[in-house]
Amino acid sequence: MAVTYVHGYDERESDRLQDQAGALVTLLHSDTAYPPNARVLEAGCGVGAQTITLARNSPHARFIAVDHSVPSLAAARRRVADAGLANVEFLQADIFHLPFPPNSFDHVFVCFVLEHLADPSHALLTLKRLLKPNGTITVIEGDHGSAYFHPDNDEARTAIRCLVDLQRAAGGNGLIGRQVYPLLVGAGFSDVTVSPRMVYVDSSKPDLVESFTKKTFTAMVEGVRQAAIAEGLAPPEKFDAGISALYRTAEADGVFCYTFFKGVGRNGA
Ligand SMILES: C[S@@+](CC[C@H](N)C(=O)[O-])C[C@H]1O[C@@H](n2cnc3c(N)ncnc32)[C@H](O)[C@@H]1O
Repeated sequence: MAVTYVHGYDERESDRLQDQAGALVTLLHSDTAYPPNARVLEAGCGVGAQTITLARNSPHARFIAVDHSVPSLAAARRRVADAGLANVEFLQADIFHLPFPPNSFDHVFVCFVLEHLADPSHALLTLKRLLKPNGTITVIEGDHGSAYFHPDNDEARTAIRCLVDLQRAAGGNGLIGRQVYPLLVGAGFSDVTVSPRMVYVDSSKPDLVESFTKKTFTAMVEGVRQAAIAEGLAPPEKFDAGISALYRTAEADGVFCYTFFKGVGRNGA
């Protein structure tokens, strides 16, 4: 059910996920806190970029963070240990075959994972079975169609489209953010609420210019250069012009906007 992870697992991608998390902590996590002794499953924890914030914000909750990538889990373990957090256990496992009985968790947290799955509905149904009655699921996904910027630029849009097309060819969906609500409702969750979280970046926010416009979004698009060219999705000059145009939005008169979608649902059944 899992598909090829379009962003890869190398060190650069690991740094990108860290930069992404640093820039977005407040925007994405300020309203997520779990009560003492709550048992929380983080499905697809990757290199632990979100795990650290979750565990820090809810120091008395107990987190089980799972991923099927051994190197990512090793990095996540190191980061959590370096942060001095003792409320996280890690487990190598496939989201679709988790070794837990039904009703095992008070809460489930899933961030930037559904976009990489061929069958996100199946994943949500599987995770729902692990939730106790009235337990909640939190899902955060981006949507690359939500990117707009100044100066606008056709090549930049082409480069972004290459990423979306490659992700689709690999079985994923880079435009999944807009589907968080219907996916949660379709999986049978109740009281579903989705809030869009827009990252707005101009040069009065130099930290975000660096960490989001450049090191998160543009780095992600740039990361598929080779594959996009190999697949004939864009000629090299056009792709490179698109990347330059995305970096151009990080200059003094540039503006970059992107929206994440955070959904919360309850296991009412
Ligand atoms: C984009 S990363 C996000 C990681 C983390 N949630 C974050 O926000 O930084 C997606 C992660 O999902 C993991 N993943 C994808 N499919 C999976 C599956 N079927 N079972 C377990 N992990 C999976 C990948 O290995 C990868 O680490």
